[in-house]
Amino acid sequence: MLYSDEVLEHFRNPRNMGEIEDADGVGDVGNPVCGDMMRLTIKVDPETERIVDVRFQTFGCGAAIATSSIITELVKGKTVREALEVSNKTVVEKLGGLPPVKMHCSLLAEQGLVAALEDYFRRHPEKQAPPELQEKARRLRNVDPHGPGEKSAQVDEEDSDE
Ligand code: FES
Repeated sequence: MLYSDEVLEHFRNPRNMGEIEDADGVGDVGNPVCGDMMRLTIKVDPETERIVDVRFQTFGCGAAIATSSIITELVKGKTVREALEVSNKTVVEKLGGLPPVKMHCSLLAEQGLVAALEDYFRRHPEKQAPPELQEKARRLRNVDPHGPGEKSAQVDEEDSDE
């Protein structure tokens, strides 16, 4: 089987689908190569900075839908800083793996999350954005959108000195 049971489960029954109308952060991302797009919206408790709600809309392949779905489960209830620790590698591991040719789909989910977090801090200039957020956003922008298979899943560990 090309896809794990977890991938198929999240593809068939995606969690947290939709859009938060009065979101505190909105991340719109797309892959220019395949044309897939994702919007991730977050609601953040102003006191605790916990992500109390998260929703996604993904116009894309099955792997993009599954990775979008699971990333919402992974970050819900976490603080915005804890959410930064969730990478596309975490997503792929939780899904029990993805075929190498589909690794770039997991990057779309991470890019959506990071874009939503960036937007959150843009809307809340009184809050100090963690330096790791800018660093992560910069590295994700430099990733090859063609997705060089498994290499693209290692974005968190590579190119850190660019
Ligand atoms: S093929 Fe485009 S995100 Fe999966």
